[in-house]
Amino acid sequence: MKQLCLFVLFVFFKTLITKAAPGDVHIAVETRQTALVIRVDKDQTPTLVHLGSKLRNAAEYAAIQARGKRGEDYTDIYNSVYTPAGSRNLLEPAIQVTHADGNPSLDLKYIRHESQSMADGVVLTKVYLKDPQYPFEVTLYYKAYQNEDVIEQWSTIRHTEKKPVTLHKYASANLYIPAQYYYLTHFHGDWANEMNPSEIPLTEGIKVLDSKLGTRADLFQPPSFLVSLNKPAEEEQGEVIAGTLSWSGNYQLAFEVDPLHNLRIIPGINPYASAYSLAPGTEFTTPAFLFTYSDKGKGGASRSLHRWARKHRIPQGEGNRLTLLNNWEATYFDFNEEKLSALFKDGKKLGVDLFLLDDGWFGNKYPRNNDRAGLGDWQENVKKLPHGLGYLVKEAETAGIKFGIWLEPEMVSPKSELYEKHPDWVIKLPNRSEYYFRNQLVLDLSNPKVQDFVYGVVNDLMTKNPTLGFIKWDCNAVIYNAFSATIQNQSNLYVDYVQGLYKVLDRLRAKYPTLPMMLCSGGGGRVDYGALKYFTEYWPSDNTDAQERIFIQWNYSYFFPSIASCNHVTDWGKQPIKFRTDVAMMGKLGYDIVVSKLTEEELTFSQQALKTYEGIKNVIWKGDLYRLASPYTNDVASSMYVSESRDRAVWFTYLVNSRYKAGSQAPIKLNGLDPAKNYRVQELNVYPGTTSRINTSTATYSGNYLMAIGFNPQVDTRRTSVVLEVNEVK
Ligand code: GLA
Repeated sequence: MKQLCLFVLFVFFKTLITKAAPGDVHIAVETRQTALVIRVDKDQTPTLVHLGSKLRNAAEYAAIQARGKRGEDYTDIYNSVYTPAGSRNLLEPAIQVTHADGNPSLDLKYIRHESQSMADGVVLTKVYLKDPQYPFEVTLYYKAYQNEDVIEQWSTIRHTEKKPVTLHKYASANLYIPAQYYYLTHFHGDWANEMNPSEIPLTEGIKVLDSKLGTRADLFQPPSFLVSLNKPAEEEQGEVIAGTLSWSGNYQLAFEVDPLHNLRIIPGINPYASAYSLAPGTEFTTPAFLFTYSDKGKGGASRSLHRWARKHRIPQGEGNRLTLLNNWEATYFDFNEEKLSALFKDGKKLGVDLFLLDDGWFGNKYPRNNDRAGLGDWQENVKKLPHGLGYLVKEAETAGIKFGIWLEPEMVSPKSELYEKHPDWVIKLPNRSEYYFRNQLVLDLSNPKVQDFVYGVVNDLMTKNPTLGFIKWDCNAVIYNAFSATIQNQSNLYVDYVQGLYKVLDRLRAKYPTLPMMLCSGGGGRVDYGALKYFTEYWPSDNTDAQERIFIQWNYSYFFPSIASCNHVTDWGKQPIKFRTDVAMMGKLGYDIVVSKLTEEELTFSQQALKTYEGIKNVIWKGDLYRLASPYTNDVASSMYVSESRDRAVWFTYLVNSRYKAGSQAPIKLNGLDPAKNYRVQELNVYPGTTSRINTSTATYSGNYLMAIGFNPQVDTRRTSVVLEVNEVK
């Protein structure tokens, strides 16, 4: 019996660990619908021969002909699976190193690969590569989330040379895609103007998207993109690859259309000022690049990413979220205990779960009464809060809501006790003038003592106030004058900073696994899946004008699920409260208004809206998103969320054009419903004193009708936003 078991185990491992046989080896990384196929030829060179729809079997993978002339001119390695620099490759490399002996070249040969089945339909494939001349190894990791059609790819780099090796470039992945035309959609912006899309055709040469900002890496452009093959990206049709780098620091995404007209995508940490010194016997792990291939356009790609993020990445991605009242726009820095206590009561009256106290509660020698002082001194300001935070937490709880708090623990104000005590904890050059971003500097998280400090800020708060229910973690400055007083090799700083941040967050999450935490960075200056491993939600933008938010939320929705998008009703825009609420409901609803200034009708509407939201939030947060009408090409923006069993949907439509007669002139075709089911369409969030134009008693249709013919939500200049619920009639 024992022998039989050993034999079975032997066969099992033999099938998992495949030694390269003479001739071509094919490694297929497969999800439910897609495949990435690596071919290893006789001289052990690994190339990527397919990324797209899954094929029928191994024979079909073996039959794929990669585009390129074979032989003398080395075009056979244009599709290298991880292009090394310095030897025969002359295209954009994925990895470039200088060995301990000064040799600036790298060659990577296939050694072996193995696949391992993990929980929940996840398969991890490792491909081991090695330089034939040096004790230098790279392992490529491909984690296939089969049910969600997402692949997560990263690599590890290690060596046992006599001295450190310099890594000049160390990308996370190196994709290769042959098509006739390539269209890249990327995003750009700034404070209060995040996520503006640009779609461009990619032609021969290299297009680079990058960030050198250090901390707020996606302030100007996020590390997320869409590539559409052969035609511009469409919502529900065509081949689209959605990709995003999970790294909260400097990144580079290179898109090279090579001389054979293949598209090569090389995403990773930005090599800018980051030649990394890797000591012998240590291992460098690159951040993961996440991507999904869809043959159902941008919609298919984003639904896959959303499912993946909820299930595998975002903490409690399939759980609950708290509605809240934030005081930032209501009070800014000007508050005291009395004002706050009144706001707790207002929050309760409104019907939210939590009150979030924003910036301005700390600092004594240098009180935080504006954004020019106090960061780093995380003690309650005794003038504003003489009884301390513990008292406020209790006051809020007595009023019947939870209490949450704003922190910006990576930062320091030049005017702070922290800066006075620990000038060497601050990132700055010794012989240059200090440059400030929002009047502040960044703490040096490559320093373990600073990591302990930052961890301690949160840990102390939580220890003293164990019922604290929420943290908003902000990050308002970029890194100027990059220099650390702690580390030897300055060009490791940008990387070590982010790794230091992740170490702190790892420790915090280990101790506080369920604490809701909002990722904020002066709005959306840091929204990526590296950080979203730790945060339950993110703040898309400080721009809370509901018209603007339609566009901002629309663009984030290509990559991030609505359960993570904090959308607050504020007074920034001048639209009616119904419009602002309807827009904010398309994600995690919150408020940042002066409740006491609402009219009676507005308050009643808001209270009712929160109750309605309670009933539909799970469809919005966990349903499949279908974008039906784009605000870029229509008078309206329209999207719907459909529950997994397709028995319920929530459908939002907003007017984005205020010209005379603008609106939803014709029916809008729904999507994602079951054609065979019957549905009733019913209006939600009807404003007190108005009546819905939708006649519920007659509004019953088949899914087929709603998707083939559509339904007109009747949005126009007198009805600027409409929320409809589409429920199966059994
Ligand atoms: C940043 C955030 C805002 C607010 C302020 C406080 O700008 O994005 O939401 O918290 O900081 O200073």
